[in-house]
Amino acid sequence: MSAVLEIAGLVKTYQTLFGKPRVALDHLDMEVHQGQIHGFLGPNGSGKSTTLKTLLGLLRADSGHMRILGQPVPRALPQVVSRVGAIVEAPAFFGNFTGHKTLLLLARAGGVPKQRVDVVLDQVGLANRAEDLVKTYSLGMKQRLAVASALLKDPELLILDEPSNGLDPAGIREMRDLLREQADRGATVVISSHILAEIQQICDSVTIISRGRRVAAGPVSEVLAANDRGTYRVRVDDLRRAAQILADAGAQITVSGDQIVVHDLADPAWISRALGLHDLWVRELAPVAQLEDAFLTLTGGGPRRGQFRPVDNSEWPHPSHDAPPLHDAPAFHDGPQRSTEITGQIIENGRQA
Ligand SMILES: Nc1ncnc2c1ncn2[C@@H]1O[C@H](COP(=O)(O)OP(=O)(O)OP(=O)(O)O)[C@@H](O)[C@H]1O
Ligand SMILES: [Mg+2]
Repeated sequence: MSAVLEIAGLVKTYQTLFGKPRVALDHLDMEVHQGQIHGFLGPNGSGKSTTLKTLLGLLRADSGHMRILGQPVPRALPQVVSRVGAIVEAPAFFGNFTGHKTLLLLARAGGVPKQRVDVVLDQVGLANRAEDLVKTYSLGMKQRLAVASALLKDPELLILDEPSNGLDPAGIREMRDLLREQADRGATVVISSHILAEIQQICDSVTIISRGRRVAAGPVSEVLAANDRGTYRVRVDDLRRAAQILADAGAQITVSGDQIVVHDLADPAWISRALGLHDLWVRELAPVAQLEDAFLTLTGGGPRRGQFRPVDNSEWPHPSHDAPPLHDAPAFHDGPQRSTEITGQIIENGRQA
Protein backbone atom coordinates (compact mmCIF):
# COMPACT_ATOMS: atom_id res chain seq x y z
CA MET A 1 0.00 0.00 0.00
CA SER A 2 1.45 3.33 -0.96
CA ALA A 3 1.08 6.47 1.09
CA VAL A 4 -0.99 9.12 -0.66
CA LEU A 5 -0.44 11.62 2.11
CA GLU A 6 2.59 11.79 4.39
CA ILE A 7 3.37 14.32 7.05
CA ALA A 8 6.45 14.14 9.26
CA GLY A 9 7.44 16.47 12.09
CA LEU A 10 5.17 19.30 10.99
CA VAL A 11 5.48 22.45 13.12
CA LYS A 12 3.29 25.51 12.70
CA THR A 13 3.35 28.47 15.04
CA TYR A 14 0.92 31.36 14.71
CA GLN A 15 2.10 34.81 15.65
CA THR A 16 -0.52 36.41 17.84
CA LEU A 17 -1.06 40.14 18.14
CA PHE A 18 -0.37 40.15 21.85
CA GLY A 19 1.33 37.56 23.99
CA LYS A 20 3.50 34.66 22.99
CA PRO A 21 3.29 32.77 19.68
CA ARG A 22 0.78 29.93 19.59
CA VAL A 23 2.09 26.50 18.64
CA ALA A 24 -0.73 24.96 16.58
CA LEU A 25 1.21 21.95 15.24
CA ASP A 26 3.89 20.42 17.39
CA HIS A 27 5.87 17.89 15.30
CA LEU A 28 2.79 16.28 13.80
CA ASP A 29 3.09 12.99 11.92
CA MET A 30 0.39 11.51 9.70
CA GLU A 31 0.13 8.90 7.00
CA VAL A 32 -2.80 7.96 4.77
CA HIS A 33 -2.75 5.05 2.33
CA GLN A 34 -4.34 4.73 -1.07
CA GLY A 35 -8.01 3.86 -1.34
CA GLN A 36 -8.70 4.47 2.33
CA ILE A 37 -11.24 6.67 4.01
CA HIS A 38 -9.19 8.22 6.76
CA GLY A 39 -10.69 10.07 9.73
CA PHE A 40 -8.71 13.04 10.98
CA LEU A 41 -9.90 13.71 14.50
CA GLY A 42 -9.11 16.06 17.33
CA PRO A 43 -10.82 18.44 19.75
CA ASN A 44 -11.60 22.03 18.76
CA GLY A 45 -8.38 23.95 18.27
CA SER A 46 -6.18 20.84 18.12
CA GLY A 47 -4.79 21.76 14.70
CA LYS A 48 -6.82 19.87 12.07
CA SER A 49 -7.66 22.81 9.82
CA THR A 50 -4.15 24.18 10.28
CA THR A 51 -2.74 20.83 9.07
CA LEU A 52 -5.00 20.73 6.03
CA LYS A 53 -4.34 24.36 5.13
CA THR A 54 -0.60 23.84 5.46
CA LEU A 55 -0.81 20.75 3.31
CA LEU A 56 -2.67 22.63 0.59
CA GLY A 57 -0.23 25.53 0.59
CA LEU A 58 -2.63 27.98 2.21
CA LEU A 59 -0.31 28.39 5.21
CA ARG A 60 3.45 28.12 5.49
CA ALA A 61 4.83 25.60 8.00
CA ASP A 62 7.78 26.46 10.29
CA SER A 63 9.35 23.05 9.65
CA GLY A 64 8.55 19.46 8.74
CA HIS A 65 8.02 17.39 5.62
CA MET A 66 4.86 16.73 3.63
CA ARG A 67 4.14 14.65 0.54
CA ILE A 68 0.94 14.39 -1.46
CA LEU A 69 0.66 11.56 -4.02
CA GLY A 70 4.37 10.98 -3.54
CA GLN A 71 5.34 14.58 -4.36
CA PRO A 72 6.91 16.95 -1.83
CA VAL A 73 4.59 19.82 -0.99
CA PRO A 74 4.26 22.75 -1.03
CA ARG A 75 7.05 22.70 -3.68
CA ALA A 76 5.28 20.29 -6.05
CA LEU A 77 1.74 21.57 -5.45
CA PRO A 78 1.39 22.91 -9.00
CA GLN A 79 1.96 19.35 -10.27
CA VAL A 80 -0.47 17.62 -7.89
CA VAL A 81 -3.17 20.23 -7.38
CA SER A 82 -5.26 18.98 -10.32
CA ARG A 83 -5.45 15.55 -8.65
CA VAL A 84 -6.62 16.84 -5.26
CA GLY A 85 -10.11 18.06 -4.31
CA ALA A 86 -10.47 19.81 -0.98
CA ILE A 87 -12.75 21.81 1.25
CA VAL A 88 -11.15 23.31 4.32
CA GLU A 89 -13.46 25.01 6.79
CA ALA A 90 -16.72 26.30 5.32
CA PRO A 91 -15.87 27.78 1.92
CA ALA A 92 -17.55 31.07 1.03
CA PHE A 93 -19.52 31.17 -2.21
CA PHE A 94 -20.94 34.22 -3.97
CA GLY A 95 -24.58 34.37 -2.88
CA ASN A 96 -25.90 35.95 -6.08
CA PHE A 97 -24.72 33.11 -8.31
CA THR A 98 -26.70 29.93 -8.78
CA GLY A 99 -25.17 26.66 -7.66
CA HIS A 100 -24.80 25.64 -11.28
CA LYS A 101 -23.02 28.86 -12.27
CA THR A 102 -20.74 28.62 -9.22
CA LEU A 103 -19.58 25.16 -10.24
CA LEU A 104 -19.33 26.15 -13.90
CA LEU A 105 -16.95 28.99 -13.02
CA LEU A 106 -14.91 26.71 -10.75
CA ALA A 107 -14.76 24.08 -13.50
CA ARG A 108 -13.58 26.64 -16.03
CA ALA A 109 -10.94 27.99 -13.63
CA GLY A 110 -9.71 24.48 -12.91
CA GLY A 111 -9.69 23.31 -16.54
CA VAL A 112 -12.39 20.73 -15.85
CA PRO A 113 -14.84 19.76 -18.66
CA LYS A 114 -18.17 21.49 -18.03
CA GLN A 115 -20.07 18.18 -18.28
CA ARG A 116 -18.66 17.36 -14.83
CA VAL A 117 -20.84 20.08 -13.31
CA ASP A 118 -24.08 18.15 -13.85
CA VAL A 119 -22.44 14.93 -12.74
CA VAL A 120 -21.34 16.34 -9.37
CA LEU A 121 -24.61 18.22 -8.83
CA ASP A 122 -26.34 14.88 -9.20
CA GLN A 123 -23.84 13.13 -6.92
CA VAL A 124 -24.49 15.51 -4.03
CA GLY A 125 -28.26 15.61 -4.57
CA LEU A 126 -28.41 19.26 -5.54
CA ALA A 127 -29.51 18.92 -9.18
CA ASN A 128 -33.07 20.15 -8.63
CA ARG A 129 -31.88 23.29 -6.81
CA ALA A 130 -28.98 24.00 -9.15
CA GLU A 131 -30.65 27.04 -10.74
CA ASP A 132 -31.44 28.69 -7.38
CA LEU A 133 -29.22 31.41 -5.96
CA VAL A 134 -26.67 30.18 -3.42
CA LYS A 135 -27.91 32.75 -0.90
CA THR A 136 -31.23 30.90 -0.81
CA TYR A 137 -29.53 27.59 0.10
CA SER A 138 -29.77 26.08 3.57
CA LEU A 139 -26.57 25.27 5.52
CA GLY A 140 -26.72 21.66 4.38
CA MET A 141 -27.20 22.69 0.73
CA LYS A 142 -24.17 24.99 0.90
CA GLN A 143 -22.21 22.10 2.35
CA ARG A 144 -23.32 19.88 -0.53
CA LEU A 145 -22.26 22.58 -2.98
CA ALA A 146 -18.83 22.68 -1.31
CA VAL A 147 -18.47 18.91 -1.62
CA ALA A 148 -19.58 19.13 -5.25
CA SER A 149 -16.83 21.68 -5.90
CA ALA A 150 -14.26 19.32 -4.37
CA LEU A 151 -15.49 16.47 -6.59
CA LEU A 152 -15.30 18.46 -9.84
CA LYS A 153 -11.79 17.26 -10.69
CA ASP A 154 -12.67 13.61 -10.03
CA PRO A 155 -9.77 13.78 -7.56
CA GLU A 156 -7.42 11.00 -6.52
CA LEU A 157 -7.23 12.58 -3.07
CA LEU A 158 -10.31 14.14 -1.54
CA ILE A 159 -9.78 16.24 1.60
CA LEU A 160 -12.92 17.26 3.46
CA ASP A 161 -12.89 19.36 6.61
CA GLU A 162 -16.19 18.73 8.41
CA PRO A 163 -18.20 17.60 5.36
CA SER A 164 -21.19 16.48 7.42
CA ASN A 165 -21.55 19.86 9.11
CA GLY A 166 -25.18 20.91 8.77
CA LEU A 167 -26.35 17.77 7.02
CA ASP A 168 -29.54 16.07 8.15
CA PRO A 169 -29.41 12.35 9.05
CA ALA A 170 -30.32 11.27 5.53
CA GLY A 171 -27.72 13.68 4.17
CA ILE A 172 -25.08 12.19 6.46
CA ARG A 173 -25.89 8.76 5.15
CA GLU A 174 -25.76 10.00 1.56
CA MET A 175 -22.39 11.56 2.31
CA ARG A 176 -21.19 8.22 3.68
CA ASP A 177 -22.30 6.42 0.51
CA LEU A 178 -20.72 9.09 -1.64
CA LEU A 179 -17.37 8.81 0.14
CA ARG A 180 -17.49 5.03 -0.04
CA GLU A 181 -18.10 5.28 -3.80
CA GLN A 182 -15.07 7.54 -4.06
CA ALA A 183 -12.92 5.05 -2.17
CA ASP A 184 -14.28 2.17 -4.25
CA ARG A 185 -13.15 3.86 -7.45
CA GLY A 186 -9.65 4.05 -5.92
CA ALA A 187 -9.67 7.57 -4.52
CA THR A 188 -8.33 8.31 -1.05
CA VAL A 189 -10.49 10.35 1.29
CA VAL A 190 -9.34 12.33 4.32
CA ILE A 191 -12.23 13.55 6.39
CA SER A 192 -12.20 15.56 9.58
CA SER A 193 -15.33 15.42 11.65
CA HIS A 194 -16.60 15.61 15.20
CA ILE A 195 -19.38 13.10 14.49
CA LEU A 196 -17.44 10.15 15.87
CA ALA A 197 -20.14 7.52 15.42
CA GLU A 198 -20.15 8.53 11.77
CA ILE A 199 -16.35 8.32 11.53
CA GLN A 200 -16.41 4.92 13.20
CA GLN A 201 -18.86 3.65 10.59
CA ILE A 202 -17.28 5.12 7.54
CA CYS A 203 -13.51 5.20 8.09
CA ASP A 204 -10.94 2.48 7.48
CA SER A 205 -8.28 4.25 9.50
CA VAL A 206 -7.90 7.31 11.71
CA THR A 207 -5.38 9.80 13.02
CA ILE A 208 -6.29 11.36 16.34
CA ILE A 209 -4.50 14.55 17.33
CA SER A 210 -4.43 16.60 20.49
CA ARG A 211 -2.67 19.94 20.94
CA GLY A 212 -1.02 19.66 17.55
CA ARG A 213 0.43 16.19 18.13
CA ARG A 214 -0.62 12.74 16.98
CA VAL A 215 -1.90 10.68 19.91
CA ALA A 216 -3.17 7.64 17.98
CA ALA A 217 -3.26 6.34 14.43
CA GLY A 218 -4.07 3.18 12.53
CA PRO A 219 -7.02 1.06 11.43
CA VAL A 220 -10.17 1.97 13.35
CA SER A 221 -10.42 -1.55 14.79
CA GLU A 222 -6.85 -1.34 16.16
CA VAL A 223 -7.34 2.09 17.71
CA LEU A 224 -10.54 0.79 19.31
CA ALA A 225 -8.85 -2.40 20.56
CA ALA A 226 -5.88 -0.48 21.98
CA ASN A 227 -8.22 1.76 23.91
CA ASP A 228 -10.75 -0.83 24.92
CA ARG A 229 -11.84 0.12 28.39
CA GLY A 230 -13.79 -3.02 29.20
CA THR A 231 -17.26 -1.65 28.58
CA TYR A 232 -20.11 -4.11 27.96
CA ARG A 233 -23.78 -3.73 27.11
CA VAL A 234 -26.18 -6.15 28.81
CA ARG A 235 -29.83 -6.87 28.11
CA VAL A 236 -31.78 -8.88 30.63
CA ASP A 237 -35.49 -9.25 31.48
CA ASP A 238 -35.65 -7.72 34.96
CA LEU A 239 -33.46 -4.71 34.33
CA ARG A 240 -33.91 -3.02 37.70
CA ARG A 241 -33.12 -6.13 39.68
CA ALA A 242 -30.17 -6.99 37.48
CA ALA A 243 -28.79 -3.48 37.88
CA GLN A 244 -29.05 -3.73 41.63
CA ILE A 245 -27.36 -7.14 41.69
CA LEU A 246 -24.47 -5.95 39.55
CA ALA A 247 -24.06 -2.76 41.56
CA ASP A 248 -24.18 -4.70 44.85
CA ALA A 249 -21.52 -7.02 43.46
CA GLY A 250 -19.32 -3.98 42.91
CA ALA A 251 -19.66 -3.21 39.19
CA GLN A 252 -19.67 0.30 37.80
CA ILE A 253 -22.85 0.43 35.80
CA THR A 254 -25.07 2.82 33.91
CA VAL A 255 -28.68 1.99 33.12
CA SER A 256 -29.61 3.44 29.79
CA GLY A 257 -32.96 2.72 28.16
CA ASP A 258 -33.54 -1.02 28.20
CA GLN A 259 -29.91 -1.95 28.77
CA ILE A 260 -27.22 -1.89 31.43
CA VAL A 261 -23.77 -0.68 30.51
CA VAL A 262 -21.02 -2.15 32.68
CA HIS A 263 -17.77 -0.21 32.77
CA ASP A 264 -14.16 -1.17 33.38
CA LEU A 265 -14.57 -4.92 33.40
CA ALA A 266 -11.80 -7.37 32.57
CA ASP A 267 -13.94 -10.45 31.95
CA PRO A 268 -17.55 -10.28 30.64
CA ALA A 269 -18.20 -13.82 31.94
CA TRP A 270 -18.35 -12.18 35.36
CA ILE A 271 -21.64 -10.51 34.36
CA SER A 272 -23.40 -13.73 33.34
CA ARG A 273 -22.08 -15.46 36.45
CA ALA A 274 -23.19 -12.67 38.80
CA LEU A 275 -26.70 -12.59 37.29
CA GLY A 276 -26.98 -16.37 36.86
CA LEU A 277 -26.42 -16.82 40.59
CA HIS A 278 -29.70 -14.93 41.08
CA ASP A 279 -31.57 -16.81 38.35
CA LEU A 280 -31.40 -13.88 35.95
CA TRP A 281 -30.36 -14.89 32.44
CA VAL A 282 -28.55 -12.59 30.09
CA ARG A 283 -30.34 -12.10 26.75
CA GLU A 284 -27.58 -10.08 25.12
CA LEU A 285 -24.03 -9.28 26.14
CA ALA A 286 -21.80 -7.27 23.80
CA PRO A 287 -18.62 -5.22 24.09
CA VAL A 288 -19.08 -1.52 23.52
CA ALA A 289 -16.03 -0.27 21.68
CA GLN A 290 -16.81 3.30 20.86
CA LEU A 291 -14.53 5.62 19.01
CA GLU A 292 -15.93 8.39 21.17
CA ASP A 293 -14.58 6.70 24.31
CA ALA A 294 -11.16 6.20 22.71
CA PHE A 295 -11.16 9.81 21.51
CA LEU A 296 -12.02 11.21 24.94
CA THR A 297 -9.44 9.02 26.65
CA LEU A 298 -6.69 9.90 24.19
CA THR A 299 -7.35 13.61 24.02
CA GLY A 300 -8.28 14.07 27.68
CA GLY A 301 -11.40 15.86 26.56
CA GLY A 302 -13.95 14.08 28.68
CA PRO A 303 -16.71 16.24 30.03
CA ARG A 304 -16.92 17.13 33.72
CA ARG A 305 -20.21 17.89 35.33
CA GLY A 306 -20.77 21.63 35.71
CA GLN A 307 -17.59 22.65 33.88
CA PHE A 308 -16.67 23.67 30.38
CA ARG A 309 -13.31 22.42 29.14
CA PRO A 310 -10.94 25.22 28.10
CA VAL A 311 -11.07 25.08 24.31
CA ASP A 312 -7.33 24.51 23.93
CA ASN A 313 -7.22 22.02 26.84
CA SER A 314 -4.61 24.26 28.48
CA GLU A 315 -5.84 23.88 32.05
CA TRP A 316 -7.32 20.44 31.57
CA PRO A 317 -5.11 17.61 32.80
CA HIS A 318 -3.70 15.68 29.87
CA PRO A 319 -4.40 11.91 29.80
CA SER A 320 -0.72 11.11 29.91
CA HIS A 321 -0.37 13.03 33.18
CA ASP A 322 -3.63 12.22 34.81
CA ALA A 323 -6.28 9.53 34.99
CA PRO A 324 -8.80 9.89 32.16
CA PRO A 325 -11.86 11.77 33.32
CA LEU A 326 -14.43 9.45 31.73
CA HIS A 327 -15.23 7.53 34.86
CA ASP A 328 -15.78 10.62 36.95
CA ALA A 329 -19.29 10.89 35.65
CA PRO A 330 -20.51 7.97 33.57
CA ALA A 331 -24.13 9.05 33.91
CA PHE A 332 -23.25 12.43 32.47
CA HIS A 333 -22.35 10.86 29.16
CA ASP A 334 -25.70 9.27 28.69
CA GLY A 335 -27.60 12.31 29.83
CA PRO A 336 -29.24 12.61 33.20
CA GLN A 337 -32.77 12.07 31.83
CA ARG A 338 -32.07 8.80 30.13
CA SER A 339 -29.79 7.05 32.53
CA THR A 340 -29.34 6.17 36.13
CA GLU A 341 -25.91 5.67 37.53
CA ILE A 342 -25.32 3.01 40.14
CA THR A 343 -21.77 2.55 41.24
CA GLY A 344 -20.47 -0.14 43.51
CA GLN A 345 -17.62 0.14 45.95
CA ILE A 346 -15.18 -2.39 44.57
CA ILE A 347 -14.85 -3.88 41.15
CA GLU A 348 -14.38 -7.53 41.74
CA ASN A 349 -12.72 -9.30 38.83
CA GLY A 350 -12.52 -5.92 37.21
CA ARG A 351 -9.58 -3.77 36.36
CA GLN A 352 -9.71 -1.76 39.54
CA ALA A 353 -10.08 -4.71 41.91
N1 LIG B 1 -4.98 32.72 12.03
C1 LIG B 1 -4.69 32.29 13.26
N2 LIG B 1 -4.00 33.08 14.12
C2 LIG B 1 -3.68 32.67 15.36
N3 LIG B 1 -4.01 31.45 15.84
C3 LIG B 1 -4.70 30.64 15.04
C4 LIG B 1 -5.08 31.00 13.70
N4 LIG B 1 -5.75 29.97 13.14
C5 LIG B 1 -5.80 28.98 14.07
N5 LIG B 1 -5.16 29.39 15.20
C6 LIG B 1 -4.97 28.59 16.43
O1 LIG B 1 -4.36 27.36 16.10
C7 LIG B 1 -4.90 26.31 16.86
C8 LIG B 1 -5.41 25.22 15.94
O2 LIG B 1 -6.52 25.72 15.21
P1 LIG B 1 -7.26 24.89 14.08
O3 LIG B 1 -8.23 25.80 13.39
O4 LIG B 1 -6.24 24.23 13.24
O5 LIG B 1 -8.02 23.80 14.94
P2 LIG B 1 -9.06 22.67 14.50
O6 LIG B 1 -8.52 21.37 14.99
O7 LIG B 1 -9.37 22.79 13.06
O8 LIG B 1 -10.32 23.06 15.38
P3 LIG B 1 -11.92 22.91 15.07
O9 LIG B 1 -12.31 21.52 15.42
O10 LIG B 1 -12.53 23.89 16.03
O11 LIG B 1 -12.16 23.26 13.63
C9 LIG B 1 -5.97 26.93 17.77
O12 LIG B 1 -5.41 27.21 19.02
C10 LIG B 1 -6.31 28.23 17.04
O13 LIG B 1 -6.72 29.24 17.93
MG1 LIG C 1 -11.11 23.22 11.97
